[in-house]
Amino acid sequence: MKNNLSNAKPAFIGCGVMAESMLAGLLKKGLVSAEQITASHPRENRRKELSKKYKIEVFGNNAEAVEKTRDEENSIVLLCVKPQRIKGVLRELKGVVRSNQLILSIVAGAKISTISKVLGNEKIVRTMPNTPSQIGRGMTAWTCTEKVSEQEREQVKSLLTALGHELFVETENMIDMATSLSATGPTYIFLVMEALTDAGVHMGFSRDMSKTLVQEMMLGSVLFAMESDKHPAELRNMVTSPGGTSAEAIYQMEKGSLRTVLSKAVFAAYQKAVALGEKD
Ligand SMILES: NC(=O)c1ccc[n+]([C@@H]2O[C@H](COP(=O)([O-])OP(=O)(O)OC[C@H]3O[C@@H](n4cnc5c(N)ncnc54)[C@H](OP(=O)(O)O)[C@@H]3O)[C@@H](O)[C@H]2O)c1
Repeated sequence: MKNNLSNAKPAFIGCGVMAESMLAGLLKKGLVSAEQITASHPRENRRKELSKKYKIEVFGNNAEAVEKTRDEENSIVLLCVKPQRIKGVLRELKGVVRSNQLILSIVAGAKISTISKVLGNEKIVRTMPNTPSQIGRGMTAWTCTEKVSEQEREQVKSLLTALGHELFVETENMIDMATSLSATGPTYIFLVMEALTDAGVHMGFSRDMSKTLVQEMMLGSVLFAMESDKHPAELRNMVTSPGGTSAEAIYQMEKGSLRTVLSKAVFAAYQKAVALGEKD
């Protein structure tokens, strides 16, 4: 398949954990070369670390990192700072970013309208990755403004594959929905993992043994569900023998309203994401 990023010039603004995961993924997959990438970071030791490790050019000034490639056709600005920094960074980039330059933001809660208003740009992609992106197994939901062309959308997909899977969603509301499901989701899973491991310890397993049993069971169950075309309830029924252990455990989970608790938790996270966006 043709590499649609072969002429792309990504500029990573704020090169922390997520930006590094993305640029490392792009380089590892051979989608871009080190000469194509620029980045910015306020701390000198971090700049040196990134330049040494990836052989990329890292600027101390955000505007300079954008200016380096702004006049090139396939230049893309990636906003990768923490949410509390985005307003200041947008002010720094005002007048530096071209009005028709592609902007991709991974900043949680930063609305397209806010970015567009400050930068005077209408080609904006908003994404919502998650923590497993750090090992290339992320799930990123993304949406974009109408001005982003088909060709640019394909480039966005390729960029996001550096973090794992990607899914285009039609609206920004769906980004808030994905925030509560796939982006906040790892915390739900980690809590379940922790609770099950503790349950194993409670019965008498060592913590290490319990952790291995739980983690491999969770991983295997997910892979099995993904490979099978069966509904989860069907998969569950397959291992629930009448009067058996699964039936006993599921009875207790239903009695404790596990489904309702999960549904309420996801909806509460969604409402929080919407409320945080409105504060903007
Ligand atoms: N991590 C995740 O799993 C995840 C998931 C979904 C969305 N996100 C979003 O991704 C964005 C980045 O997250 P992250 O985990 O990569 O955070 P991070 O590791 O803190 O990366 C942000 C980087 O920006 C640097 N920085 C601070 N001020 C700056 C400035 N004025 N200009 C340029 N760079 C500046 C920070 O430097 P210092 O190191 O000196 O602070 C840091 O290295 C966030 O907006 C977050 O909402 C992250």
